[in-house]
Amino acid sequence: MSNIWTPSSWRDFPIKQQPTYENLTELKKVEDELATYPPLIFAEEARRLKSALANVANGQAFLLQGGDCAESFNAFNANNIKSLFQVMMQMAVVMTFSSGKPIVKVGRIAGQFAKPRSSDFEEIDGVKYPSYRGDIVNNIEANLQKRLPNPKKLLKAYNQSAATLNLLRAFARGGMADLNKVHQWNLDYMKNHTLGEKYNELATKISESLKFMEACGINSSNTPVLSQTTLFTSHEALLLNYEEALTRKDSLTGDWYDCSAHMLWIGDRTRDLNEAHIEYFRGIKNPIGCKVGPTMKEDELIELIDKLNPDNEAGRLNLIVRMGASKIADIYPKLLAKVESEGKKVVWSCDPMHGNVEKTDNGYKTRDFANILSEVKQFFQIHKTQGSIAGGIHLEMTGLDVTECTGSQSCNISTDDLTSRYHTQCDPRLNADQSLELAFMIADALKEAR
Ligand code: PEP
Ligand code: CO
Repeated sequence: MSNIWTPSSWRDFPIKQQPTYENLTELKKVEDELATYPPLIFAEEARRLKSALANVANGQAFLLQGGDCAESFNAFNANNIKSLFQVMMQMAVVMTFSSGKPIVKVGRIAGQFAKPRSSDFEEIDGVKYPSYRGDIVNNIEANLQKRLPNPKKLLKAYNQSAATLNLLRAFARGGMADLNKVHQWNLDYMKNHTLGEKYNELATKISESLKFMEACGINSSNTPVLSQTTLFTSHEALLLNYEEALTRKDSLTGDWYDCSAHMLWIGDRTRDLNEAHIEYFRGIKNPIGCKVGPTMKEDELIELIDKLNPDNEAGRLNLIVRMGASKIADIYPKLLAKVESEGKKVVWSCDPMHGNVEKTDNGYKTRDFANILSEVKQFFQIHKTQGSIAGGIHLEMTGLDVTECTGSQSCNISTDDLTSRYHTQCDPRLNADQSLELAFMIADALKEAR
C-alpha cells in the first residue's frame, strides 16, 4: 500500500463485489455530476459521532445501530421512515432507563443501498440473471434488461438519501423526539399486547419523572435535550464510485470526510487487507466500522486495526462482530482477548443477524429470534467474563409489522407465517415488536453490567 492517499487511490487496488457497468462514459458523467452535489452531512457532525462513540468505547454510552438490510426505491415513503425512527426511540428509552447510559443512535438509513452478493449470477425459474446488487445498482425484478447495472441509479440513491435525511432531521429536532411524547412512540399495532403494556408502564414512569422535573423548573423549553435527539446515519460503503464522489475536504480541518453518511462500514466480504475498501477507508476521517465474521484471524484483525486506526483513537473504529449463535463462543473470545491485550481502543458491537441466516423449506431466507437472542446473550457474557466493554448492537430491523424473522415471545412467527408480510429487498428484518423485545433483553444485560 503506497502512502499517498487520495479519494480515488482505491482504484489502484483489487476490488470485490462491484457491478460491471457497460457504459463507462455514462458512469463517469454521473460521478462528475455527483461530485458537484452538496454533501449530505457536515464533517463536524461526523466528529460529534466519533466523540459519542469514544464514550461507547469507554463504557459510558451504548450504541444502537439499526435499519433495513437494503433500502429500496419502492418502499420510500414517510411512514417507513417515521416508524423506524419511533421504534429506535422506543428501544433507546428502554435501554437508557435500565442502563442509566445515553444511547448513541445510528440508522442503517439514508444511503444503505448497495449489497454484496454470494454470487455474480442467480437463477430464477431456469433463467440466469446478473445478481441484484441493491437499488443503487440495478433492479430487483427478474428481467435481464433491468438487472443491468445503471449508473443513473447513483443519482436517485443520492436524492432519496437527501430526502430521508431531511425528514429524520425534522423528526429529531422538530418535536417527534420529545420525551413528553414517549407514549405516542408506541406503534399502533403494538398497543394491545404484553410488550406494548410493558413499554407503556415504562413510558408512564418517564412521564411522571418529567412532571416532577417540570415542577422543579426543568422543561423542554429551558432544557432542549428533553425534546430533541440526534439520529446519525450509516451504510456499508460498498460502491466506492459513489463514496468517492461524495468525499470532500473539510474546510475547517483540511481532512477528508465521506459526506454520504456520518458513519460508514466495511462488509465482511470486502475487508481484505490489501484491497480497495481498506485503502479507501484509511483516508477518510469519519467514524468507521468493519464487520468481523467467523473467518477473521487474530493477527489479521490486529493488522486491520492498525491500518484503519493507526493513532488508536477511541471512537474511530467500531468492530461489528457477526459470528452466528453456534460459532461465537468458539471464535470470539480469542479475538477479543488478543485485541484487548494489545491495548487497542475499539467499539465492540454485536450484529446477531448475519451469522444466523437460514433457508426454510418453503424457500424463505429467515433468521430465528432464538438464535439472535442467543448470540446477543453470548456476546454480553463473553465481555463480562473478560472484563471488557460490550459497546453496542447492530440490527436489521424495521418499524413495520413484517413477518421476516421467525419466533419471539411477542409475535411467535412460524415458517408458514413468513408468507404473510415478507417485504424485505434482501435479508430478513426484525419487526417492531421483535426489536422492542430484544431491547428489553439488552436493557436487562446492561443493567446487570452496571
Ligand atoms: C449487511 O450488513 O447487510 C451485510 C451484508 O453484512 P456482512 O458484511 O456482515 O455480511
Ligand atoms: Co443484511
